[in-house]
Amino acid sequence: MLETDHFLDIDDLTTDELETVLDRAAAIKAGEDDTRLPDQTLGMLFEKPSTRTRISFETGMTQLGGHAIFLGPEDIQLGHGEPLSDTSRVLSRYVDAVMARLFDHGDLIEIAEYSDVPVVNGLTDDAHPCQTLADLLTIKEAFGGFDDVRVAWVGDGNNVGQSLVIGAAMVGLDLTISTPDTYGMDDAVLEQAAELGHEPTIVDDPKAAVDDADVVYTDVWISMGQEDQRHEKLAAFDGYQVNERLLADSDAQVMHCLPAHRGEEITGDVLESERSLVWDQAENRLHAQKGLLVELLDA
Ligand code: CP
Ligand code: NVA
Repeated sequence: MLETDHFLDIDDLTTDELETVLDRAAAIKAGEDDTRLPDQTLGMLFEKPSTRTRISFETGMTQLGGHAIFLGPEDIQLGHGEPLSDTSRVLSRYVDAVMARLFDHGDLIEIAEYSDVPVVNGLTDDAHPCQTLADLLTIKEAFGGFDDVRVAWVGDGNNVGQSLVIGAAMVGLDLTISTPDTYGMDDAVLEQAAELGHEPTIVDDPKAAVDDADVVYTDVWISMGQEDQRHEKLAAFDGYQVNERLLADSDAQVMHCLPAHRGEEITGDVLESERSLVWDQAENRLHAQKGLLVELLDA
């Protein structure tokens, strides 16, 4: 069992708990842990679309002997004016845990405040800790651990990147970040990583970030909800594409949370190359979240 009531960002876990969740995920993936969650139900609130998060949580609950309910924006009264606080209290009376994908991280905190059952962040504009669990599991599998693994983040500094920065600091990954000035990580996230003893190195030039890296990680430039910023963001990210030219002097492997926009943040040839860890990474969403769910819900 975890100390925390909710999983709103990766540092709701202690470092020991993070290692425990990753070990449990690996054991489940290997078929060595057959913990079940019979009769347990996960309510899944979505304000934004999803392929991986929705399907991995729903499949994960089925495989654990439980059940998941998809609650889309138009499906429930939340989308028709019922307050978050009422929705959360009522959900708590039915389900055993809630997973929510929302725009505003503050709304997730409000849901958690009113919830008597664990609330899991399925992505907000600020954080994507379930992605970080899968990312760390993938790195651990690929490199046998975290010691001396150098990760370069190239691209936008929002949800996926920010949770990775904190998770990387927790496990001691060596992280270098290259983002355009106006799209960097939040100062609070960088300060938190520094307090954990692993302040990321920040460089302007993406080439300088990737040359010594073991892993190069990128995310979309136009996140969900930012479609009206497309023109200015495409201009700001010119030169940050992960392509064969950027990787010419690097033998790094490549990660991407997906969905990928080929020809924007990454080229199709890199995504499909031998360097690419993305399909294992996507699969690991399932195993990592099963590890999290059993730690959160198995009494
Ligand atoms: N990486 C990720 O969260 O993907 P989805 O948006 O498809 O859930
Ligand atoms: N940064 C992306 C991540 C998608 C999983 C977004 O918020 O759309």
